[in-house]
Amino acid sequence: MPPAIYTDKHAALGISDIRLDCPVITGTEGEQAIDVAQLRARTGLVALDPAFVNTAAVKSSITFLDGELGILRYRGIPIEELADRSSFVETSYLLVYGDLPNHEQLHRFSTLLTRHSLIHEDMKNFFTGFPPGAHPMAVLASMVVSLGTYYPDSLNVDNRAQMDITIARLISKVRTIAAFAYKKSIGQPFVYPQNHLRYCANFLNMMFSVPAEPYEVDPELEKAMNLLLILHADHEQNCSTSTVRMVGSAKANLFASISAGICALWGPLHGGANQEVIEMLENIRDDGGNVKKYVALAKDKASTFRLMGFGHRVYKNFDPRAKLIKVAADRVLSRLGIKDPLLDIAKELEDAALSDDYFIERKLYPNVDFYSGIIYRAMGFPTNMFTVLFALGRLPGWIAHWREMMLDPTTKIARPRQLYTGPTHRHYVPLEERG
Ligand code: CMC
Repeated sequence: MPPAIYTDKHAALGISDIRLDCPVITGTEGEQAIDVAQLRARTGLVALDPAFVNTAAVKSSITFLDGELGILRYRGIPIEELADRSSFVETSYLLVYGDLPNHEQLHRFSTLLTRHSLIHEDMKNFFTGFPPGAHPMAVLASMVVSLGTYYPDSLNVDNRAQMDITIARLISKVRTIAAFAYKKSIGQPFVYPQNHLRYCANFLNMMFSVPAEPYEVDPELEKAMNLLLILHADHEQNCSTSTVRMVGSAKANLFASISAGICALWGPLHGGANQEVIEMLENIRDDGGNVKKYVALAKDKASTFRLMGFGHRVYKNFDPRAKLIKVAADRVLSRLGIKDPLLDIAKELEDAALSDDYFIERKLYPNVDFYSGIIYRAMGFPTNMFTVLFALGRLPGWIAHWREMMLDPTTKIARPRQLYTGPTHRHYVPLEERG
């Protein structure tokens, strides 16, 4: 990995009579950052940057994203090329290990994933402990952290020899857990993984086949699944990935760190938005299909309503994933012979928003979640599984970041500072003396 380069530029910071020269570092794509590592030690002050809008918390060589130009590359390779030519398993290898695998590496990695697809039989009992209607994201997060109890050999993060096997276990088993959670929620028997099936086909088989009749995985669905998982596979320091890194920085094991990431992803401002988008489109449909009314509502500061699937902290031009998914939505629906009125409403909503000054001025474009749900729906996934599918896709990215951090000898526990704004020193008052 080419290192970040310290330039001869400095940013000078003057506070009273202290002058701090902060080095300016350049990344491999020319992005620049001010290194404030000496700030507190030299000045006693901390930097306040709510929501990390300006703060790079790490140097990372996994994913490059340019929000102005709409560029997204995994390990240097444009997302468009991976979407067109790669498979999810190959892309996972690329993200985690840094380069595209050769034949032998890909074969070894795929074999590991195949071998580790089963979960311990006792874990099947866990699914019965959840109430009917339990959200599958809660089930997924619980099951992933519980996996650690079955693999105590995977809990020591300093055991490098064990890391690859832990990674393969997780990538393989999360797919089985996701499918089992769905089967449990609809009262159907669990379908076990099949070693002869490829990663996505195996998942679709566990999701949609039943023991009572034969099931052939539709190649169109397998292709769509591969595409969607690849497009979700990493997105540098987003909320869930930063959570994985934060938890992992305490040397928490991979299962615990990923479980935390799943919980963060569930939030409706993050991965949970894909479920919210479809629910919003259904509301618009049931309300007569008047998209203008909802665009107006999204602009109304007195309302908490937002256009779900719109806007992004980093993309201020377009989200390249959304572009690819929109094209795929048309293709998949037409190949499956499905006409979904929600797709028409989504397109109308996009047109209405993109020609509205509010959205233009704020540079709000459809994001990855806007059209993905339309495809998932056409494939037969229920709405509450959408964020689970996002998690399945994001898994290699989370793992790549966790591994990058664990292998970096300079990693320290993440521990932000704060600016305290509470009461100043006061004394304890006994209960009987309080007003
Ligand atoms: N609908 C209406 N107004 C919006 C929207 C939206 N979807 N998104 C942002 N705005 C407005 C916001 O009210 C603010 O207006 P003003 O300047 O007048 O106060 C301005 O645009 C900037 O928004 P922000 O909330 O400061 O932006 P942010 O970078 O903090 O938030 C976001 C980014 C993605 C959380 C936000 O755009 C949002 O809530 N979008 C809807 C939820 C969504 O689709 N999330 C998925 C994100 S992509 C996949 C992922 O990361 O998981």
